[in-house]
Amino acid sequence: MLIKNAFLSDGTPADVWVYEGSIRAIGQNLTIGDPEVIDAAGRTLLPGFVDLHCHWRTPGFEYKEDIATGSRAAAAGGYTFVNLMPNTKPVCSSAEQARAVMDKAREVGLCGANQTVSITENFDGHSVARLLELPDDIKFITEDGKGVQSSEVMARAFAICREKGITLMSHAEDMDISPWDYRLAENIETVRNLHLCEYYGTRLHMCHVSTKEAILAISEAKARGVNVTCEVTPHHLWFHDLDYKVNPPIRAAEDVAALVQAIKSGYVDAIATDHAPHSAEDKANGMAGMVGSETAFGVCYTKLCLQEGLPLPLLENLMSRMPAAILGLEKKGEIRPGFDADLVLVDLEHPWTVDAANLHSKSRNTPFDGVQLYGRVCLTVCGGKVTHRDL
Ligand code: DOR
Repeated sequence: MLIKNAFLSDGTPADVWVYEGSIRAIGQNLTIGDPEVIDAAGRTLLPGFVDLHCHWRTPGFEYKEDIATGSRAAAAGGYTFVNLMPNTKPVCSSAEQARAVMDKAREVGLCGANQTVSITENFDGHSVARLLELPDDIKFITEDGKGVQSSEVMARAFAICREKGITLMSHAEDMDISPWDYRLAENIETVRNLHLCEYYGTRLHMCHVSTKEAILAISEAKARGVNVTCEVTPHHLWFHDLDYKVNPPIRAAEDVAALVQAIKSGYVDAIATDHAPHSAEDKANGMAGMVGSETAFGVCYTKLCLQEGLPLPLLENLMSRMPAAILGLEKKGEIRPGFDADLVLVDLEHPWTVDAANLHSKSRNTPFDGVQLYGRVCLTVCGGKVTHRDL
């Protein structure tokens, strides 16, 4: 495949030659054999996006999303790899269950996937001993959807993860406090986990950071060398004071400003969607979350690049290079010869309007319905194969 007439994120014109799943050459006016030619027509080519935080709801909640529809939604959003959360039914507490999901994702073949495993067994809040037995290919654990309440249990998890080289992903929520003050709940658990991280030296990743206090605590910890990374979501960057149920909640304008400032200062490692599909009925019954795979780039390009002046190469880092590095995906996240041919072509010129009815996800729960954005995903290539085309 030869992608012609594209621009890279820094504005360099480029053709990209893809062969047998890898990027083989990047240059101008490339002519190679008799490839399938895709005319990018002056659009911008980025490395495929990598989502650190995604829910495909398998097993147990396939009526909200399954691996095929989740993969299609990811591909339509320009994603070529996602990291899946374990709050399924049953909870993903074992390597066997994680591998079954990853095998199925490979079979679907539209988007790479890593399945994380829970911190405590079946989210019971206590049992961490089985972490000692996890095989080496399980590198990320999280209790996403809830916090681990007991500091002592969390301390034991940090100690085990340090020995095994596992990264702890933290959904920061003190569940005793969140029913009456979710801001305090996020802040307390963020600070506790940063202290545990500093004490044990274990790698920690803070999920969907949403408050100005939490991002400040993380920034200060990073500045003194604590082994922590963090992500923010597109919805916490776009909305403020919106009554749409999501955990953590949509915050105030000053929280959004603090998150944007932390991005500009280099304290945020990644944008992650927290793609959380729910049926209309579940949503009406109060389930938290929104779908996010298909709107993430448009939201972030419009907010961060167009409104806040962030250079596109920095957004590319947040959506591709750094999340790939956090996941240890050595040949992903950059457009470079020898790297996997995971690519996304975006139209930065023409506005488009989100239409929930046209999403590829099985669910439609999004407050972005009707919002006008720039940065439409036109083509996604994963492992050299076209997984989404809307040229
Ligand atoms: O709003 C949310 N929904 N936040 C989470 O942490 C979990 C997610 C879900 O799984 O629905």
